[in-house]
Amino acid sequence: MATNLTFHPGSVDHHERVDLLQQSGITIWFTGLSASGKSTIACALEQHLLHLHKFTYRLDGDNIRYGLNKDLGFDERSRNENIRRIGEVSRLFTDAACITLTAFISPYRADRALARKIHEEAGLNFMEVFVDAPLAVVEQRDPKGLYKKARLGEIKEFTGISAPYEPPLDAELHIKTAECDVEEAVRIIIGYLLEKGYIF
Ligand SMILES: Nc1ncnc2c1ncn2[C@@H]1O[C@H](COP(=O)(O)OP(=O)(O)OP(=O)(O)O)[C@@H](O)[C@H]1O
Ligand SMILES: [Mg+2]
Repeated sequence: MATNLTFHPGSVDHHERVDLLQQSGITIWFTGLSASGKSTIACALEQHLLHLHKFTYRLDGDNIRYGLNKDLGFDERSRNENIRRIGEVSRLFTDAACITLTAFISPYRADRALARKIHEEAGLNFMEVFVDAPLAVVEQRDPKGLYKKARLGEIKEFTGISAPYEPPLDAELHIKTAECDVEEAVRIIIGYLLEKGYIF
C-alpha cells in the first residue's frame, strides 16, 4: 500500500450525482459456471436497459482479461486478484451512477464477498445473481469447447472440472438457465430492479 496518499473528494457527492443524473448506480454481479449463461443474460439485460435510456455498461470476463487483467492467469491467487480488480472497477462505475453488469465465473465465495464489501463500504448498491445450470447441461452446451479441452486435460484448473465452484448462499437472485430462457431471465432481473427502486 502506497503511503502519503490523500483522497480527493469531488465537488458533487454521490447522492447529488444520482439526483442530477436521475439514475442510481448498482453493480449486478453475475456468477456461475462457464456456459451457465452469464454473458448471454448480461448482454440481453444491457441492451434492454439501454433501450430504457439507462446508463449501463458490461464488464465481461474474457474482455477484461484482454486488457486490464492480461497479466493474470487462472491459479487461485490470480483469480483472487482478477476479481479484486473487477470489484474496484465496478465500484468506480457504480459510483458514477452506472448500472454495472459484471460477468465473471468468480468461483470463490470470499472473492465475491470482497466485491460486495468494497461496494457496501462505499455506500453503493450491489446485488449478486447466481446464474445456475447443472454441470451436465453446461458441458453439453460448451459454446467455446472449453469443457472438452478441460476433460482432455488440455486446460488446467478449469472451474467445475478441475477447480472448485462455490455456489452463492445469499445471492439476491437465483436464475436457473436450464429452466428459463434469456428473455425470462431479463424479465426477472428488471422486475427486481423496479421492485427495489434501483431503476425508476
Ligand atoms: N436460458 C439460457 N440463458 C443463457 N444462456 C443460455 C440459456 N439457454 C441456453 N443458453 C446458451 O448457453 C450458452 C451460455 O454461454 P455464455 O457465454 O453466456 O456463458 P458464460 O456463463 O458467460 O460462460 P463463460 O464463463 O465461459 O464466459 C450460450 O450458448 C447460450 O446461447
Ligand atoms: Mg461469459
